[in-house]
Amino acid sequence: MNEEEYFQALIALHQGLERQGPGDKEFSRQILSNLEGLPENPQIADMGCGAGAGTLLLAEKFRTNIRAVDFSRDFLDELDVRAKQEELDQFIETIECDMGKINWAPKSVDLLWSEGAAYILTFGGALKAWRPLMADNGIAVISELSYFTDKAPEPLKEYMKKMYPTIKSESGNAEVAKALHFEVVDILRLPSRSWWTYYYDPLKENIESQKGSKDPTMQVVIDETEKEMQLFEKYAEFYGYSFYILKAK
Ligand SMILES: C[S@@+](CC[C@H](N)C(=O)[O-])C[C@H]1O[C@@H](n2cnc3c(N)ncnc32)[C@H](O)[C@@H]1O
Repeated sequence: MNEEEYFQALIALHQGLERQGPGDKEFSRQILSNLEGLPENPQIADMGCGAGAGTLLLAEKFRTNIRAVDFSRDFLDELDVRAKQEELDQFIETIECDMGKINWAPKSVDLLWSEGAAYILTFGGALKAWRPLMADNGIAVISELSYFTDKAPEPLKEYMKKMYPTIKSESGNAEVAKALHFEVVDILRLPSRSWWTYYYDPLKENIESQKGSKDPTMQVVIDETEKEMQLFEKYAEFYGYSFYILKAK
């Protein structure tokens, strides 16, 4: 199994879903309505947007141009279709590229949004890549899998060592952000119920329909995903997605 086959199986398993990672529209709307200090018509980007769960909310809220970046054309095509359906397409520009290698003008983003995607570059790697894009006092809202405790149970630590070796506590990530010239405005935890309602439960239906697949890579991805769900069922009080609200300083 090579990396490309793995990503293709992962994309296929998430096809047609409203979201490709844990999140919650109402929770995000709440965050957006509490942001302070943005200019009148903010320049906005959604990094690793997938099929656009966040992008559509940003367009609905700000009704201004949103640059939606992902390296999967399949997900961006889904976003284009949904944007048309919701009559938000005039605000959304889908950009197929590597979010770690963006060559936009420095200081050209007032609001950078990224849900469930920064880990691909590592939290620190993502902040480092995106910091030069941020306008002075620009806001970044980035979700990242984080420990809620310094005393995570051993089986959870073992799993993370293998599957998510860069996971840190919220205070650890806050230190990373500060060192990269962001002020930490707030850290908000996505409720564990939202993981199931808006991500895992719909994903379970896709898993069922792919279970008969003869593709061995798909079987690996299904197996990993089911293990991930079992882990979350058992240990959700110790880790989860934290949304880091950061200001470029
Ligand atoms: C867990 S999904 C999150 C998608 C979306 N933000 C959401 O919350 O539904 C991560 C996304 O990052 C994209 N991605 C992974 N590596 C990338 C890269 N280097 N550049 C751009 N997008 C990338 C994937 O295609 C996928 O859509």
